[in-house]
Amino acid sequence: MRLNGRVSTEPEPSPVTAADEARAAELLGRLRDDLVAADFSVTALDALWGEDAAAALHRGERVPARRVLDARRAEHGTSAGLATLAELFVLGVAVPRGELAEALPGLGLAGAVELGLVGDAAGAGDTGDRASVRARLDLRPYAFTDARGSAEWWIISDLGELALGHALGEHHVLGVGGASKTLSGLMLPTTAKRVLDLGTGCGIQAMHASRFAEHIVATDISERALEIARLNLALNGIDGVELRLGSLFEPVAGERFDRIVSNPPFVITPRLDGVPEYDYRDGGMVGDALVEAVVRDAHDHLEPGGVAQLLGNWEYRDGEDGLDRVGDWAAALEHWVVEREVQHVAEYAETWIRDGGTRPGTPEFDRLYDAWLDDFAARGVEQVGFGYVLLRRADAAASARSSAAAAAAGLARLERLHGPLGSNDAGLGGHLAECLDGHDRQAALDDTALAAARFTTAGDVTEERHYWPGDDDPTAMLLRQGGGFGRAISLDTGLAALVGASDGELSIGAIVAALAHLLEVDEAALAAELLPAVRTLVDDGMLRFAD
Ligand SMILES: C[S@@+](CC[C@H](N)C(=O)[O-])C[C@H]1O[C@@H](n2cnc3c(N)ncnc32)[C@H](O)[C@@H]1O
Repeated sequence: MRLNGRVSTEPEPSPVTAADEARAAELLGRLRDDLVAADFSVTALDALWGEDAAAALHRGERVPARRVLDARRAEHGTSAGLATLAELFVLGVAVPRGELAEALPGLGLAGAVELGLVGDAAGAGDTGDRASVRARLDLRPYAFTDARGSAEWWIISDLGELALGHALGEHHVLGVGGASKTLSGLMLPTTAKRVLDLGTGCGIQAMHASRFAEHIVATDISERALEIARLNLALNGIDGVELRLGSLFEPVAGERFDRIVSNPPFVITPRLDGVPEYDYRDGGMVGDALVEAVVRDAHDHLEPGGVAQLLGNWEYRDGEDGLDRVGDWAAALEHWVVEREVQHVAEYAETWIRDGGTRPGTPEFDRLYDAWLDDFAARGVEQVGFGYVLLRRADAAASARSSAAAAAAGLARLERLHGPLGSNDAGLGGHLAECLDGHDRQAALDDTALAAARFTTAGDVTEERHYWPGDDDPTAMLLRQGGGFGRAISLDTGLAALVGASDGELSIGAIVAALAHLLEVDEAALAAELLPAVRTLVDDGMLRFAD
């Protein structure tokens, strides 16, 4: 079978060996009860092995955590429920059958085998309860906070490199990684009817979307990923998610959604025999063509007013700006693209060759490095950008209702924000929603109507003033955003005074008139200077409409 240039190899065996879905659901229900009883939670695990070992695990190192559990085992002669589950599923260590049976009393050893969670540990000499079992799948608690509050799920995925002891297979199904969390944090926390999660993997984005949406279609090119997503949905009791197999938008041909989310396989990979193709990161297309396809085709699958959010890489080719290329792909839609990082091609190649488990300094590493650099050179690529893409299909009815000025001021933002973000406990999604709302409101007003509006500064905004020692007047004034993108905006005297006076009482027009009088400048000229700045501050979520 050929899917977008990729020849799919034989599928990996299904992770679930249970005969049918009803049986799997019954077993997963028992597993859930056991996990609750053992308190298999992020807080309990962190307390079990302590802060330092937890930090090491976040860095991908399991030795400190294993040492803590080994010491407990030495002290008590055995390992109890939570520790057994932690050793087996998080650290990838073999545990005695008897201990696992005790840790999962409802599911039992046979149930865990039937679900495909564990199997006999190869080479274990002991028999009976003392023989060891090893995890066949990774299973761990995952805690998060979004606009609905804090919650915790258990996530099943394929075993990582630590547990496997070798590089990942090409059909590896990822657990919740950094990019997964970035995208779920970006999701607009507003209700939606139908959501598409393109490239669902273990199902994590569909699960997050289920907190705000009635119906979700989650697709993937990998049958194995869909099997694992099915396990996660059932294990966590999440309904309303329909799983469909297929590439890109093929499984949803002719359908529209009011939200699309995708953490697509955006890693740029040379199309050369002998270069591994990982389902989880590489969509089998040349350069950044897969991200381009998702961006361009989103238009046909969004309802009017619908929003798509994705992560992606984009190439800087032959001196052409990478962000501008994304802007071209997104031209048919309103768009807001935030580039978070740019890597030189050499650094990019090293990152992804290492991610595939190949060690630097080996002939294989050098061979792959050459392949990556040749591939980039063939398209004149010198740098690769990474960032967030938000696309919105204009709502024809709303555009018709609003002014010509609003139609001309459709959202079209291409930004380079490479610095640290502000602090966003529940992710950036709430901030994005506020900015979009502010943008729509200000864009619908001409300058006269904007001048009549009243604003307040957002609660996370502070003003900084810097002075040369001994001077009374500041040399620089900055407006700093504590949350959101953590923006810092330079202020001149007029804008600083306008922001300072924006407490919701006076209209912008009244403030400008008072300032013009105070500064002895022409009121119309001052308004022409400050009103665009007000629009920008509203777009950035630093000024808010007072009503
Ligand atoms: C980076 S992973 C994202 C997984 C998950 N959504 C997350 O956020 O962690 C990309 C997923 O896209 C899938 N994929 C790869 N090629 C695809 C294609 N052509 N169409 C749809 N999905 C694809 C992979 O199997 C993988 O599950």
